[in-house]
Amino acid sequence: MPEIRILESPVELAHAGARIIISTAQDRITKTDRFVMAISGGSSPGVMHKLLTTEPYLSEIQWNKTHIFWVDDRCVPEDSPFSNYGSAKREFLDQVPIPIEHVHSMPTELPPEEGAVRYQRELMSFFHLKEGELPALDLTLLGIGPDGHTASLFPGHNALNEIKRMVVYVKGGNPDIYRLTLTFPVLNNAEKTVFFVSGRGKAEIVERILKHEEKMLPARMVQPLSGELIWLLDRDAAALL
Ligand code: 6PG
Repeated sequence: MPEIRILESPVELAHAGARIIISTAQDRITKTDRFVMAISGGSSPGVMHKLLTTEPYLSEIQWNKTHIFWVDDRCVPEDSPFSNYGSAKREFLDQVPIPIEHVHSMPTELPPEEGAVRYQRELMSFFHLKEGELPALDLTLLGIGPDGHTASLFPGHNALNEIKRMVVYVKGGNPDIYRLTLTFPVLNNAEKTVFFVSGRGKAEIVERILKHEEKMLPARMVQPLSGELIWLLDRDAAALL
């Protein structure tokens, strides 16, 4: 069973998320001299990202030893409002002193199939992987949609069955466009995974995942092999637990 932490409000949820990021970063930098985090898109993490750009959190992270990857992105230009990279850059990364070469955005300007291959190569190179090896992200931050998707792994999509490739392209979601997404082999190989869920609109899907454990829901299929799994919820998102 995952660890479930319920916070009273969206603001307290954002602070709890920021504190997990900081403690994980400090722990991993102490042990490995770097911190590698994969982030999601969507609106939920916005307040948490903003907290990291201001004190007291900003100076708690050694940004020069931090690397950011994405769990997914839409195949749109960076300046599109649908771009997860573009949103994170504007709201968060442009306001922290992270070296630009540590920001590993997905190549969403390429044709989707080529972009997926390119990002897999970037992961293999960064983690110095041999064929068949998987990256071990220090921390993966995930959201969920009301349909139970996470990253861009949507219910019923054949991407859910991918066991070899680290990155695939899909078409779906809202907006219904092409996207690149990490696959479960990568997501389930992370050292620590945090679902960050806010609002009453997610209460039903949270209940289906955490109480009824519906196995076919993509977010329920995130079952880290050995890593820690934390569900960080506010009171509204946990209303039906
Ligand atoms: C995406 C995200 C996606 C997101 C959920 C929740 O690209 O859309 O990665 O998986 O985390 O859809 O989004 P909200 O936080 O906006 O509800």
